[in-house]
Formats: sequence, C-alpha cells, structure tokens
Amino acid sequence: MSQDQDKELFELATQAMGKAYVPYSKFAVGAAIRTVNGSTYAGCNVENASYPEGTCAEAGAIASMVLDGQTKIESIYVIGKGDALVTPCGGCRQRVREFSTASTMIHICGPEGVRKSMLMEELLPFSFGPENLKE
Ligand code: THU
Repeated sequence: MSQDQDKELFELATQAMGKAYVPYSKFAVGAAIRTVNGSTYAGCNVENASYPEGTCAEAGAIASMVLDGQTKIESIYVIGKGDALVTPCGGCRQRVREFSTASTMIHICGPEGVRKSMLMEELLPFSFGPENLKE
C-alpha cells in the first residue's frame, strides 16, 4: 500500500467487513470514512429477510459520521472479497456525493489492499449535489 493511502482506514474497513450481516447475499462489505477534521467512521452492510431493504456498508458509515456531527468526507475506503472491484452502488455514489468535496477520494479495496483509487468526480461525473438546488 503506497504512503498516500491510509492504513488505519483500510484496517477499519476490513474489521467492519468482518461484522457484516449478510446471510442472504453472503457478500460482506466494509466501509471506512475519514472526515476532513481527521475523525473516522466505519460501517458494514446489513441485510434482512426482505431482500431489497438491506443497507450498504457506505450508508452505515455515513450514518455514523452524521450522528457525530461531521459532514465532510476526506476519503472513504470500501472493501469486499472476490476478484471484481467493489465499487459503490449507484445509490451509495449519491450518498457519498452529498458529503464530498472536490478532493474527496474513494479507495476500492480487496483483502490484499487498495485496488483502485479515484476522485468522487470520477466515480460520479456530472453529479447532482446540494449546489444544484440553489437558484
Ligand atoms: N453492497 C455494499 O454494501 N456496498 C457496495 O458498495 C456494493 C454492495 C452490499 C449490498 C448487499 O448487501 C451486498 O453488498 C450484495 O449486493
């Protein structure tokens, strides 16, 4: 893992993945956020018997961040197993976007480390955010 990546966040995301409640998909995901003031928050996906009602790892981490009064994401790590990139789903791109800045980084990880890093702008180009609501 290169130095500009954040070992602590990678580990937080990995631990969160270990807590995922995924009896239906069996696909555990962990997410960890560092906010611009340096605080960290983690989340895991939580499924339930009504399959579409489960929540993603990113949503859990964001809820924890907001509960703590923080709203500016510096970087977010998302981790899952398997060969494919665990890129945030469409809904989570919008959720992360809400709390992003021009420099917010998204790091997509596998168990071995970071696989791909990108700016929010690259993950969700031409996004609709709070500024778009201003007249
Ligand atoms: N999932 C996440 O938690 N985050 C993502 O970025 C992609 C998908 C979850 C939702 C569901 O519990 C499982 O992964 C399989 O889709």
